[in-house]
Amino acid sequence: MEKPRKKFMDIIDKALAAASKMDRDELLFSYKGVLYPVTFCSLETFRAMESFEARSDDIILAGYPKSGTNWLGQILNDLSAIYDKKTQNKQNTVDDEELEEFPYLEIGDTEKYERMKKLPSRRVIITHLRPENLPRSIFKNKAKILLLIRNPKDVATSFYYFTSGVSSLPSYETWDDFFVAFMTNKMAWGSYFQYLSEWNKYADAENVMTITYEELKENRVLGVKNIAAFFGISLTETEVQSVVERSSFQSMKKNSQKTHGAFGEVLFRKGNVSDWKNLFSEDQNEKMDKAFEEHMGGTKLGKKLKYEVYCKA
Ligand code: A3P
Repeated sequence: MEKPRKKFMDIIDKALAAASKMDRDELLFSYKGVLYPVTFCSLETFRAMESFEARSDDIILAGYPKSGTNWLGQILNDLSAIYDKKTQNKQNTVDDEELEEFPYLEIGDTEKYERMKKLPSRRVIITHLRPENLPRSIFKNKAKILLLIRNPKDVATSFYYFTSGVSSLPSYETWDDFFVAFMTNKMAWGSYFQYLSEWNKYADAENVMTITYEELKENRVLGVKNIAAFFGISLTETEVQSVVERSSFQSMKKNSQKTHGAFGEVLFRKGNVSDWKNLFSEDQNEKMDKAFEEHMGGTKLGKKLKYEVYCKA
């Protein structure tokens, strides 16, 4: 079931190599008020993306960076492969490797959206974008979206370590410096609080299902079953078990050389809930608690995140 990831790794290797020769202040650019890494995204690609035609059977995963998108990406790819096998859906006339595209919608060259027209259904597409920046056809054509959210303190913690391991993002000398940047809209893909409030507008939409990192950590079997049901994929118990086992942190970390190359070392860090407790000072806790209340207090996504459980010491 392992998909070839050669193009994926090529794009990452090239981006990291290019970024390592750049100055820190050249690494990000702004588009529609949101920052993005220049070695992965471009204005031209954003413009070309407007022509992207979503299909009603696309499997779309939306998640802010560091909320576990690679984890859910693996689960969704496995589910899609099971679906294809059962329905003999995919007419594999071309080599899988030939057809492979970088799984994140907004990353790649300008021709990507043209090539994606040739991809057989069901396509698994991941994005870190906020809903207002997604191509309209996703909503118009009623593609189903799995929205993945994670408690903001662990997102910040994971992002901090990621910035020190990945040359495409500006790194920070200290956690305190990073925290200030995280809270003042300096992150690639924008502010997490704005991300959450924009997506909250879609929390009740028929074609959107929300899942939290924490609930999936607590019960992967239930999570996998719910996700499969949402996308209309029926599973035997054996299939559930296989998806669950392949998506354990240990198993994904072990396979990461194959699936993510050197990038895997940085990506599969701890895979735990509450690592923020090792970094946040009392003052930082207060600041984030306040910001969360201001942006997300009383909202559906705010409740779903169970802030009191996962973000209070
Ligand atoms: P940590 O840095 O807290 O360990 P993304 O894929 O969106 O960049 O998110 C990365 C985060 O998801 C990292 O968090 C990573 O360890 C975690 N992750 C990746 N695979 C996972 C898995 N199978 N189970 C739990 N967490 C996982």
